[in-house]
Order: sequence, then structure tokens, then C-alpha cells
Amino acid sequence: MALPILLSLYITLLFTTLPTTLPQSQPSSSSSSSSSSSSSSSLDVNILLTKIKPTLQGQTENLLLSSWTPSTPLCQWRGLKWAFTNSTPLPCDPSLSSQTWTNLSLYKDPSLRLLSLQLPSANLSGTLPRELGQLSSLQSLYLSVNSLSGPIPLELGYSSSLNDVDLASNLLNGSVPTSIWNLCDGGLVSLRVHGNSLSGALPQPALPNASCNNLGFLDLGQNKFTGDFPEFITGFVGLKLLDLSGNMFYGQIPQSLSGLNLEKLNLSYNNFSGVLPNFGEMRFGAEVFEGNNVGLCGPPLGSCGASSGLSSGAIAGMVIGLMTGVVVLASLFIGYVQGKRKKNTDEEDEEGFEEGEDEETGGGGGGGGGGGEGKLILFQGGEHLTLEDVLNATGQVMEKTSYGTIYKAKLGDGGTIALRLLREGSCKDGSLCLPVIKQLGRVRHENLIPLRAFYQGKRGEKLLIYDYLPNRSLHDLLHESRVGKPALNWARRHKIALGIARGLAHLHTSLETPITHGNLRSKNILVDDFFVARLSEFGLDKLMITAVADELVAIAKTDGYKAPELQKMKKCSSRTDVYAFGILLLEILLGKKPGKNGRSGDFVDLPSLVKVAVLEETTMEVFDVEVLRGIKNPMEDGLVHALKLAMGCCAPVATVRPTMDEVVKQLEENRPRNRSALYSPAETRSEIGTPF
Ligand SMILES: *[C@@H]1O[C@H](CO)[C@@H](O)[C@H](O)[C@H]1NC(C)=O
Ligand SMILES: *[C@@H]1O[C@H](CO)[C@@H](O)[C@H](O)[C@H]1NC(C)=O
Ligand SMILES: *[C@@H]1O[C@H](CO)[C@@H](O)[C@H](O)[C@H]1NC(C)=O
Ligand SMILES: *[C@@H]1O[C@H](CO)[C@@H](O)[C@H](O)[C@H]1NC(C)=O
Ligand SMILES: *[C@@H]1O[C@H](CO)[C@@H](O)[C@H](O)[C@H]1NC(C)=O
Ligand SMILES: *[C@@H]1O[C@H](CO)[C@@H](O)[C@H](O)[C@H]1NC(C)=O
Repeated sequence: MALPILLSLYITLLFTTLPTTLPQSQPSSSSSSSSSSSSSSSLDVNILLTKIKPTLQGQTENLLLSSWTPSTPLCQWRGLKWAFTNSTPLPCDPSLSSQTWTNLSLYKDPSLRLLSLQLPSANLSGTLPRELGQLSSLQSLYLSVNSLSGPIPLELGYSSSLNDVDLASNLLNGSVPTSIWNLCDGGLVSLRVHGNSLSGALPQPALPNASCNNLGFLDLGQNKFTGDFPEFITGFVGLKLLDLSGNMFYGQIPQSLSGLNLEKLNLSYNNFSGVLPNFGEMRFGAEVFEGNNVGLCGPPLGSCGASSGLSSGAIAGMVIGLMTGVVVLASLFIGYVQGKRKKNTDEEDEEGFEEGEDEETGGGGGGGGGGGEGKLILFQGGEHLTLEDVLNATGQVMEKTSYGTIYKAKLGDGGTIALRLLREGSCKDGSLCLPVIKQLGRVRHENLIPLRAFYQGKRGEKLLIYDYLPNRSLHDLLHESRVGKPALNWARRHKIALGIARGLAHLHTSLETPITHGNLRSKNILVDDFFVARLSEFGLDKLMITAVADELVAIAKTDGYKAPELQKMKKCSSRTDVYAFGILLLEILLGKKPGKNGRSGDFVDLPSLVKVAVLEETTMEVFDVEVLRGIKNPMEDGLVHALKLAMGCCAPVATVRPTMDEVVKQLEENRPRNRSALYSPAETRSEIGTPF
């Protein structure tokens, strides 16, 4: 149980903003390159300008790399961090050190050493320069999500201080050089090459029984590695994450793997076979091993020998079948709704729902016969709706989810409603779901989208009817660039976050029967012109059959909102909601989308990003630039407090997380000071200059 300690460590770190030195692993003493040491001008700057820059950028000039030039002050060279040979970091915070920030001759300082090279998503299209191995103080190399091609150079392993390497999502090919394990001696902590085209067998370290003591993260997923399970890995005693997924490894998975204290493992989509090691008590789910040879067996997969259960192929078939079902059903229903002209006047013969205190109407047309069309239950604010209105509404698909489709529907009288048609079979029986529907129909709060009515048709169709709000989702607001979109400064983001927190707190503590949201994400939050946030989709998990509800958990996982302890929707609780809120708050602060990134397939782990930034003393850089605009003191403006709060909500251990009431209180007590821009929705991004 090292987790809570780690967490409290970095939470403390977040705030001990003492000018501590960066963690140094034997600075420059063991510089393996025999070339001149600190003599005339900075050796590292030289290497950077003459070798690394041209090699990384390839054929075309790169926008970010063009900042690496003597006519630009060193502190403004993008993606770099420096220290002096005595390991004092070069202070490059614009607010603190205007002297270094503008000093044009600083780059000549012979005592400068490069500490980190971080250019993720920088559109680099060259190759990895061998000279990286000559940067004696280089500790971190982050070049993920670029188009770097060619091999990982042998020389990279000669880098004496390098301990954190992220080359994920590039086009690297060839085999991994054995020298990579030399980095273990320098204290290698993390090696990530996910999503490249690396091939061949993974090389053995030169020394047998290497334990690579500091290595916690090894991600080799989605490459073209082949060969037997690289058994030497099971000697890497500190490993917490191991991802070998999406390669062509084959053969047995060694029993010794279960001896590691892994928190995350992914061996899916290889060709492993044989009996799984015994990992004990449900440590990993079947998804960790899916997509391997059908011969792979043992818990949590099927038992060995007996040929029972469904193959993964059959399951894939079922899923595809279901998905086709959704599309067909949705179009049928639209046809049904639109084609239905109420000529049919049969008496209402549906056994109907138990009578509740809510108004129910059996049919439209001025309360006449219902025509076998099922029942409409009206809630407060939906009294004006009739069954006829609803069935004759013309719909336009707004969104499809795993459990239903949302339509924007125009009523005959010109009004607009939002309809959610629940997927057939996704929902519990009428009698089971009605009490939940009625509970949801009573929830009213400024930050929650109200349910106005519920319809159940004779064929079992179920429709949830809401107000139609023409507002943008928080997701679009944060991540889609469109002209005329409002600028999202900290004051506005704070207001949105507080709104979400209040809505959630209302569900958790102000109702007779508390409701868990269960599906909190930026796509499910609408934000109006005054930055009032409204949550939708709450409590729906209670309506779903288990399989569909668990699908939501899987989606939440892909999208990064799933609390680590949440395996089944049945287990969702206010604490798992708090976790999702923490991710959401980080999403708001960082302006980054959590979870699997559509384009690169990379998983963006927001809490880890913050953790890394804190450890690297770049906490301020982690915020979205738009958030920092106009902020004089991030401490007084509650910005750093919000970051800390978000990290607390994402604590891996559920019991450590605050309650939503506590979150609301903290956000209320730590507000941005300048709120003038809060209520002027007209101001847009285009009216504001670019930062820095
Ligand atoms: C600029 O940096 C150089 C090299 O470190 C140093 O010698 C010089 O004094 C600095 N100039 C100013 C104005 O700080
Ligand atoms: C990325 O680089 C390519 C050339 O390699 C260039 O054509 C393209 O405009 C660049 N994209 C961005 C967003 O800078
Ligand atoms: C790596 O890719 C390049 C093209 O980008 C190709 O020329 C080279 O042969 C590949 N190398 C290997 C080992 O596959
Ligand atoms: C490596 O470990 C194995 C088993 O623990 C042991 O038998 C062997 O002697 C070790 N080899 C070396 C070189 O330490
Ligand atoms: C495991 O890896 C596969 C393929 O790379 C990926 O689709 C899946 O989401 C991963 N599973 C987990 C649990 O990370
Ligand atoms: C997987 O391994 C089996 C032998 O264990 C082999 O027969 C089969 O061809 C392999 N499949 C693939 C896709 O490599």
C-alpha cells in the first residue's frame, strides 16, 4: 500500500514551493563521452544546435525548434530545461527572473547542462539523434506523439543520467538496442515506447539477473515485438506498470510474473498461450489477457481443459450484432414516430404502471383514448406535454451512446424538447425502472437538467423527455476550437467547476434517497452563455441492465473518468463520482482531454501529468495558458488550490477523497479574485492576444 504515501508526498510537493534542487543522479561525473568537458562554450548547447535540432526536425523547418537559436534568449527555447554544472537549475520562470528570461548571451555559459527535453506533440518528423547520448545531465526525454521515424539509436543507452523516456506514438522502427538497459544504472524510472513499429525480440540486459531497481513503468504496447515473453522483466522488482499489449509475443506467460507488485498489467492482443500465472484474488480482469491464443486459460479466463464458454470471436460477434441492432432500432423508431398519425383510437389496454403521485396521461388528443401507444408520465414543468405532441414530434439525432440515442425534437407548437430513446433491452422492465424514473423526475436543481416526462410504449420503447438546452457541452467548450467561442479564463472555469460540484453535491446529499451520477464526464455537462453548468445523464445507471451499465464503466475507463476501484457499475458510489469529478476538474484546469486520445490512441493520464509537472517543478506550465491569463498570483486566486483539490479527488484510495460537500466548500472559499469578466459572455477568444 504505497499509494497513499505517494499521493500525500506529491500533494505536499505541490505546495512546498521551496526552490529545491532537482533530483540529480550523479551530475556529469560519469560523462561517458570523452570529448571536451566544460571548456569554452556550453557543450550541450553546441550539441543541441548542430546535431539534435537538425536531426529531430527532419526535412522541414519546425515551428518549436526554430526557437532554438542564438538570437532568442535561452529561456525561451521551447521544451528545454537547464541546470548549471553545480546542479542549480537555471531559473526560467518569466515572473521571477526577468534577467535570465531576456539574457541573450546566456547560451554561451559553459557551465550550462541540459536537464530535460520535452517536445510532445510538436510535429517533429526527423529521427532520434545519436548525440542524445552525449548529454551527460539529461534526465528526461519526452518526445511522444510526433512523427519521428527510424531506429532508437544505440547511443541513447549511453546517456548517463537519463531516467525518464517517453517516445510513445511515433513511427520508430527496428529493434530496441540492448544498451537501453544501461539506463537502469542511471536509475531508469520509466520507459514508454507505446504505439511505434518496433520489432524483433526484446533484448536481454547485458548482465544476467538485472533488477533495474527504479524502473516503475515499462510500456511497450502496440508495437511489433515478437518472441517469447521477455522473462527477464520479471526480475525488475519495482515494476508497477507493464504493458506488452498489441504485439506478437507468444508462448507461456511465466509464473514469476505474479511475483511482481504490479498495479497495471496489459498482455492483451498477443499470441500468448498456456496456463496463466496465479495472480491471486481477482487482481486482474479478463480484459488484461483478451485477444490471445484461444489456448490461454486459467482464472480470470476460462478453466483449462474444459472447452466451455464463448471464444473472444463469438463475443465480438455479439457486440457487433448489438451495435447493428442500435442503428436499426433507432431508424425504425424514427420512422415509427414520424409515420404515426394518430388515427387509431383503440381503448387504452395497457396494464399500465402503478399509480403514483405524478400525473400520468394515457394518450394525447385532448385526453382522449390512448390508442395502444403506451403511457406518458409527466413531472413538474412537463405538464403541458401530451402523448400526441411527443409522438408527432419530428426528431433529429443529436448523439448516440451505448444505451440510447438523443434526439432534438420539434413539437407541433414550435417548442423543442430533447428525447432520449433508450436502446431496446438496455433497460430494466417497466416495473423495475419506474420507481427510479419517478425519483429522477423529482430532482430539481439549478445545476441539473430536469427530467420533464417519461414515455413507455407498448412495444417496450422507453423515452426520457428533457428540456432542450441549446448550450454547448463542456467537452466542446474545452476541446473544440471554433471561432466565436467564449474565452475560458479562470473565473469562468471556476464558475463552471463550482456549478458541477453543486449539482453533484445535491445528488449525493440533498435528496431523500441519494443518487449517484455514475456517468460524469465533460460530454454530459452543458454550459450556458453565463457559464452555468448543468449535469445530464445522472442516475441512469440504475435503469440499465447490468451488462449495459458495465459497458458504461468500460467507456468511463477508456475516457479516463473511472475510479481505479470501480469494476462494475453496481459498485459505483459517491466516491467514484468524486474521482470522476477530480478528473473533470483537471480537464478544466489543464484544458486537456483525459483518457484515450482518438488520434494517437495514447492514454492521457491527467493526474500523472500533474504529478510529473510537480516533480519537475513545472507546475505552472501544466495549466491551460488561457487559465493563467490575467492571473497575478495563482495561490491567492485559488488556482493552485483547485489543482490540489482535484488531485485529492483523484486519490487512488477512495477513502482519502473528499466529499462533494467538502469540494463545494473549498471551491467557494478559494475563488478567483478578479471576476469582472464573468458575466460578459460576448467576449470571445478571437479578441484576445496570444499568450507569451
Ligand atoms: C547573461 O548571462 C551571462 C552568462 O551566464 C552572464 O555572464 C551575464 O552576466 C548575464 N547578463 C545579465 C545582464 O544578466
Ligand atoms: C507539421 O509538419 C509538416 C511538415 O512536416 C507541415 O506541413 C505541417 O504544416 C506541420 N503542422 C503543424 C500543425 O505545424
Ligand atoms: C524503418 O522504416 C524506414 C522507412 O521509414 C525503412 O526504410 C526501414 O527499412 C525500416 N527499418 C526496419 C528495420 O524496418
Ligand atoms: C541469477 O539468479 C539465479 C536464480 O535466482 C541464480 O541461480 C543465478 O546464479 C544468478 N546468476 C547470477 C550471475 O547472479
Ligand atoms: C490493453 O491494451 C489493448 C491493446 O493495446 C487496449 O485496447 C486495451 O484498452 C488495454 N487494456 C487496458 C486494461 O489498459
Ligand atoms: C499463435 O501461436 C500458435 C502456436 O502457439 C501458432 O500456431 C499460430 O500460428 C500463432 N498465431 C499467430 C497469429 O501468430
